[in-house]
Amino acid sequence: MSNDEDTLVLLPDEDGDVQLTLNVNGHQRKVTARPTQPLLEVLRDELRLHGARSGCGVGICGACTVLRDGAAVNSCLTLAGLCADAEITTIEGLDGGEDDLSPVQDAFLRHRAFQCSYCTSGFILALEALLLRNPRPTEKDVRDAFSGQVCRCGSYTQIMAAALEFVAGESVTEESAALESTAESAAEEAAARESSGASVAGSIADELVPGDAKAGGDQ
Ligand code: FES
Ligand code: FES
Repeated sequence: MSNDEDTLVLLPDEDGDVQLTLNVNGHQRKVTARPTQPLLEVLRDELRLHGARSGCGVGICGACTVLRDGAAVNSCLTLAGLCADAEITTIEGLDGGEDDLSPVQDAFLRHRAFQCSYCTSGFILALEALLLRNPRPTEKDVRDAFSGQVCRCGSYTQIMAAALEFVAGESVTEESAALESTAESAAEEAAARESSGASVAGSIADELVPGDAKAGGDQ
């Protein structure tokens, strides 16, 4: 490698490490890394940015997703040493403008599109990447963008409900409408069960407890 200013120089020091300057969330960050160190480790262990999660470590779950020049990548499979010329964005770097949250983050929050949230930053960044390249995606585009993301809690219905806010209404499929309707019915059923449980308990109490006792009379 040459020492031209425009050329990345990755010469290991005596410990076998390389010195890198990464552009992360709009800031130049100097880090020391092994030549083969995944970007995920550098983000989490060196830069203390813990929004990207370590899941499978082999490019299957998407928990480690970050943006590299606006495209979603698995940071567990991306070498930090190859990112010196790139703009890296993690969930911590999403710009909500005057609001704290980006519109995608806000939609996930309103739809409660998570349980443990381990997968959430990956899903959000996958959707952010899609919207960067296609501001008006179809539902199929969203599903394709989520094809590398796994939610072990099974919050897919809520995740899709949040994501569909960014899809033109006419492209929502019958399958999604059915999913939404199933989720609403389940919530209504649970509320009805709760209310009927309360009234059954009230009837049993009426039968078991004499009226005077309930009124605080005979004890
Ligand atoms: S941890 Fe990177 S894809 Fe699973
Ligand atoms: S909310 Fe737990 S893994 Fe998705």
